[in-house]
Amino acid sequence: MALLKILHFPDSRLRIKAKLIEHVNAEVQLVVANMFETMYAAPGIGLAATQVNIHQQIIVIDVSDKKNQPLCLINPVILSADGQQSTEEGCLSVPGIFEQVKRAEQITIQALDKTGKQFTITANEVLAVCIQHEIDHLNGRLFIDQLSSLKRQRIRQKLVKQQRDNN
Ligand code: NI
Repeated sequence: MALLKILHFPDSRLRIKAKLIEHVNAEVQLVVANMFETMYAAPGIGLAATQVNIHQQIIVIDVSDKKNQPLCLINPVILSADGQQSTEEGCLSVPGIFEQVKRAEQITIQALDKTGKQFTITANEVLAVCIQHEIDHLNGRLFIDQLSSLKRQRIRQKLVKQQRDNN
């Protein structure tokens, strides 16, 4: 397995829309394994393929405290969304930034697992937030898109400076 490089805002590749996966084959499964490794190492609770410059509909998540409940979503589709919650979100692609974001409280989604089998789950609380956040990534959206443009501009300046200082 291998650690993958995580793209950081304002990298324009984070805006590319991910394509549907036609066949969950060994190549896809290797991507999934590498994404889990990268997410756990970061550490983070979710990672979308877009963030590692792979523009296919793959998400890995583990919101458990013990990091022993890996969840892989391939070609996820939100079937229903209810209620509203506002929680503080962060993102491995927007390091060091945490902001309140509104999301649906409960969602039901359909996806394929890493063996290509279709399943449906209903999620709420942090898992619901995480799934919505990661599906946004596959559509080229970031949680900071929900903030005011002034706030986003400040975040952009901060991260560009950080990236310059690190190089
Ligand atoms: Ni993110």
